[in-house]
Amino acid sequence: MERTLSIIKPDAVTRNITGKVNSMIEESGLKIVAQKLIRLTPKQAEEFYAEHKDKAFFTSLVEIMCSAPVVVQVLQGEDAVAKYRKIMGATNPAVAEEGTIRKTFALSIDRNTVHGSDSLESAKREVSFFFSNLEICE
Ligand code: CMP
Repeated sequence: MERTLSIIKPDAVTRNITGKVNSMIEESGLKIVAQKLIRLTPKQAEEFYAEHKDKAFFTSLVEIMCSAPVVVQVLQGEDAVAKYRKIMGATNPAVAEEGTIRKTFALSIDRNTVHGSDSLESAKREVSFFFSNLEICE
């Protein structure tokens, strides 16, 4: 059993489609064991995405992530990290597989609807970035 961190991004929150994204998550068999709607500060977004700080898209990534609220959530299940990455689809929705969340809903690589941890190690850091153990309900 694994846990992974998911963020439903501003493009989905502003289009009022968080329920549709959650339906796809739940239909995959992953369980939402924690969830909250928050507005990221630039400082939080910079820290969360620190690994990308030298990339050309970093400033715009931080700006977009702070442009509206996000839903942060913890997903639990067997192989949760890999499973969520599979149902999200590729980072660039133009090359994402049919039936994935990003192929279905993403607007562009910048506004790609969801984030998911890329490894078990990142998942541990990312889950504890947003949630205490007391906020996770199995
Ligand atoms: P995410 O999974 O949240 O991780 C970093 C984000 O940076 C990524 O999704 C994209 O939304 C965004 N991004 C913008 N441009 C690029 C790019 N060229 N390559 C990868 N990620 C990008």
